[in-house]
Amino acid sequence: MSIRHFLTLRDLSSEELRKLVRRASELKAIRNRGEIYEPLKNRVMSMIFEKSSTRTRVSFEAGMAQFGGHAMFLSPRDTQLGRGEPISDSARVISSMVDVVMIRTFSHQLVEEFAAHSSVPVINALTDEYHPCQLLADMQTYFEHRGDIQGKTVTWIGDGNNMCHSYINAARQFDFKLKIACPEGFDPDPELVAENQSRVLITRSPEEAVTDSDLVVTDVWASMGQEEEQKEREMKFADFQVSPSLMDKANSDAIFMHCLPAHRGEEISEDMLEDPRSVVFDEAENRLHAQKALLEFLLVK
Ligand code: CP
Ligand code: NVA
Repeated sequence: MSIRHFLTLRDLSSEELRKLVRRASELKAIRNRGEIYEPLKNRVMSMIFEKSSTRTRVSFEAGMAQFGGHAMFLSPRDTQLGRGEPISDSARVISSMVDVVMIRTFSHQLVEEFAAHSSVPVINALTDEYHPCQLLADMQTYFEHRGDIQGKTVTWIGDGNNMCHSYINAARQFDFKLKIACPEGFDPDPELVAENQSRVLITRSPEEAVTDSDLVVTDVWASMGQEEEQKEREMKFADFQVSPSLMDKANSDAIFMHCLPAHRGEEISEDMLEDPRSVVFDEAENRLHAQKALLEFLLVK
């Protein structure tokens, strides 16, 4: 059987994604019962991080350990990756020694190139364009709190960034409507929007976007790699803060998510994470369970 990679949500079918999200909740229950389940004994994952991370590193490393396997942290600073060894050579070498490779980097093309030369599954753990692992956790969290997301309305507030792009893919794969409120000049990729125009709507008004919404999501105004734009973005995004009063305009059972890390006083008000509608810490924990389901899907036949 040919290798499966997970570079975007489009690499799995809708049915596979749905099963994976349900499986994530089962794996969570297994762990909560204290049962040992080690389907990846003696298996090794390389984790290549070119950007910082707390959740992604901890969840993948803990997940591999709980599954009986091992995770290896690789930084470009102390491997030949940082000294210009071609991606194709690195991919051939690393994949000849391990069972799965996870990469967090800037260019999405780099992950595609690595996957093209890898003999084992490659997982995108965030690029400038997509963050599909986060969406697995977000979907699991919605299913656990409110049931199936099919036919629901989701609102994205803020930058048309990697998370927003993955929400567009999720709208297609999980069949929901996505309203995006972003300042002019910060729209998501127009091609991706055009491909999904029956489901995706862009507006400049956060109030309009949250009306009739079942799930409200936001993210930082300046992503990793955009630090020098922070000040300019703070001005341009000033009207795009999610607060309990903005949430009041959504449906009465709407919930709030944020992939974290969050900047209180910027994209969210000081009190938003503690609001009863916020499920962000369940969402963060679900990174562990959702990625274990992904590893099981990719590695256990
Ligand atoms: N949400 C997320 O990916 O967090 P980290 O950057 O801490 O991994
Ligand atoms: N959009 C953010 C997500 C962090 C998990 C970034 O790329 O920095």
